[in-house]
Amino acid sequence: MSSRNGPSDFRSDTVTRPTPSMLEAMVSARVGDDVLGDDPTVRALEEQIAALFGHEAAVFMPSGTMSNQAAVAAHILPGEEILVESSSHIFQFEGGALARVAGAHVRVLEGEGGMIPLETLRNAVRPPSLHMPRTALLCLEQTHLFAGGAIVPISYLRQVREWSQEHGIPVHLDGARLWNAQVETGIPFEEYGAVADSISLSFNKGLCCPVGSILIGNGAYIERARRVRQWLGGGMRQSGYLAACALVALQEVLPRLIEDNSRCRRLGGVILGLPGLRIAQRTVDTNILFVEVTHHDLDAPMIQAALEDEGVLALALGPRLLRFVTHQYVGDADVDRAAAALNKVMQAS
Ligand SMILES: Cc1ncc(COP(=O)(O)O)c(C=O)c1O
Repeated sequence: MSSRNGPSDFRSDTVTRPTPSMLEAMVSARVGDDVLGDDPTVRALEEQIAALFGHEAAVFMPSGTMSNQAAVAAHILPGEEILVESSSHIFQFEGGALARVAGAHVRVLEGEGGMIPLETLRNAVRPPSLHMPRTALLCLEQTHLFAGGAIVPISYLRQVREWSQEHGIPVHLDGARLWNAQVETGIPFEEYGAVADSISLSFNKGLCCPVGSILIGNGAYIERARRVRQWLGGGMRQSGYLAACALVALQEVLPRLIEDNSRCRRLGGVILGLPGLRIAQRTVDTNILFVEVTHHDLDAPMIQAALEDEGVLALALGPRLLRFVTHQYVGDADVDRAAAALNKVMQAS
């Protein structure tokens, strides 16, 4: 569906709103009090997602941030060390919550395309010592936002799984956009489920829900995460209205995400032909495109403003970095409009 009447909004997949059938499902949802444990629609969503990934249990969360933070807090004790990749969302963009919520001792490792080299992981495991923190968790991200929606290969995740089992260190996967990777690779969800102890998945991005994420893991672990959710004020009562929306999104929007990925690649092709702009990621795997401004006289905020005058919204994330994200409300006509606008803006200067 194209946003023909308004601007073509490429800023983020979080700008998406529910489709008419998702709204209808919300209005007619059967609900209860989820904190008392009797909301049937939340239960159905939790059971469906846990089964999809071959995990025992799941807990519905208000946001990806709460889901990630509860995930970590349920894995570790305060003062234990967690390994994170340097440009990961959980480390860079969650307000320092790893220190505040879980009391994590955070060790930052360099990676590329969302992958921390296995050698680096091997060297990062602390020996048992009274003087050192215990290495208690590894966090990875699928797809990796700041690697431009990069798909972290399942072969790499399987090798990490072996490392994790060898050292008894659990793996948490921030799978906010794992959906976009799955539709692209066709790898069954269960295979993604098999490479992590816990996975957080978002409904409020490409899946168009207004609110919601979910955390999966084993039964005892999810009960601990449910308790952390309660500490954080994330018990939501009649959240079946939101779960109903997510259940429809899984049927209606999930299979369509493949179109978002291919439209993003088409936009990447447009950038390739424009002097003064450069694709700032290795490949365009899914729905996120970072563009570096190499032009001498233009910077990213200037291009963002000029595109806005042409009815195209992108996000300047620094003086030289622009971001475009495709989603349900970016159709082929919007990509054409962005291509025309980019041509006009870049050729005018
Ligand atoms: C990779 C990733 N993880 C987690 C989050 C946090 O999700 P939320 O905005 O629902 O807190 C985001 C949000 O953009 C994200 O991109």
